[in-house]
Amino acid sequence: MNVKEILDKAYNTHKLSKDEIKLLLTLEGEERQLLFDLADRTRQKYVGDDVFLRGLIEFSSYCKNDCFYCGLRRSNTEAQRYRMQEEEIVEVARRAYEMGYRTVVLQSGEDPYYTRERMCSIIRKIKEEVDVAITLSIGERPYEDYKAFRQVGADRYLMRFETSNKELYQKLHPGMSFENRIECLKWIKSLGYELGTGFLIGLPGQTVDDLANDILLVCELDADMVGIGPFIPHPQTPLKDAHEGSVDITLKCIAILRLLLPDSNIPATTALGTLDPLGRQKGLKCGANIVMPNVNDLDYKLKYELYPGKICINEDATKCRGCIESIIISLGRRVGQGYGQSRHYRAKK
Ligand code: SAM
Ligand code: SF4
Ligand code: FES
Repeated sequence: MNVKEILDKAYNTHKLSKDEIKLLLTLEGEERQLLFDLADRTRQKYVGDDVFLRGLIEFSSYCKNDCFYCGLRRSNTEAQRYRMQEEEIVEVARRAYEMGYRTVVLQSGEDPYYTRERMCSIIRKIKEEVDVAITLSIGERPYEDYKAFRQVGADRYLMRFETSNKELYQKLHPGMSFENRIECLKWIKSLGYELGTGFLIGLPGQTVDDLANDILLVCELDADMVGIGPFIPHPQTPLKDAHEGSVDITLKCIAILRLLLPDSNIPATTALGTLDPLGRQKGLKCGANIVMPNVNDLDYKLKYELYPGKICINEDATKCRGCIESIIISLGRRVGQGYGQSRHYRAKK
């Protein structure tokens, strides 16, 4: 099949073989543009022109894990650590609501301080006091924790599998297991959460074959939202000398995933905007329909350093809210109103 036929197949059936995905990942010039345009058309047809905003609350920079790529890894003794208390988290959620957000994402390192009881109390309190959907992004927990969080009102869960290459996964995640991560994702799905997962692009040792497998694994897990972004080396990690991930490949992955999961939510990530000043705009033009601005105070933003050079780090939350809205409008799109539930999720109910 030639490129045109592969694209037609993707558009009409939302299915591609691994070899077809690999071919799309290597497109250049006009053919690459055809892929982006088709993904944009698919986005328009299935999820429309709304871009939904998620208010990101990074509530703890402590982490018990040691992922090779991440500035929050426990071995990084220079990382600045903080924990937000319940009242403060609820207050930020309230502020996010006042700025117009209808989803908050509670994200942290894997921090055992936030026991099942503490997390349940935070979720319950936000749900009682603020009219928002809650996405959790707090890593691997026991089944009973996921169940309890769901029972007290958590709506969505975001956890990337990072790479589908098991060997690479084990190398980059000491003390963790790929199998456990996948099991957690399946539990999360079985509990009725909207499931978000995805991977990092440009990890050292990752091949085009791996990326095609990553895309297929997102489809196999039937993700309601897909978070993918380029790897950015952090100077205080073992990967400090590695190359950063490619913006071009990230955009191609977004486009292919839009074709394969036409009604799922796909963010244009902060990491994409960090490597390319127009990265988020480009993502929104080739399949993405979500942006996740940080709503924390500046001092916390500075301390949650996954990678250096993060955009918006010196901007306060109100400024980002206005800035992102003008970006969306400049693209001929509009800010979505309401919770912005994944249509993929809704269709299955
Ligand atoms: N601890 C939770 C977890 O790992 O799922 C949630 C927080 S973690 C900081 C969120 C995401 O940040 C990870 O899934 C990872 O893909 C991304 N991340 C970490 N270090 C990064 C880096 N150096 N460059 C780009 N993304 C990175
Ligand atoms: Fe911890 Fe998540 Fe960073 Fe891994 S990616 S070190 S689990 S915060
Ligand atoms: Fe933060 Fe533009 S979105 S300054």
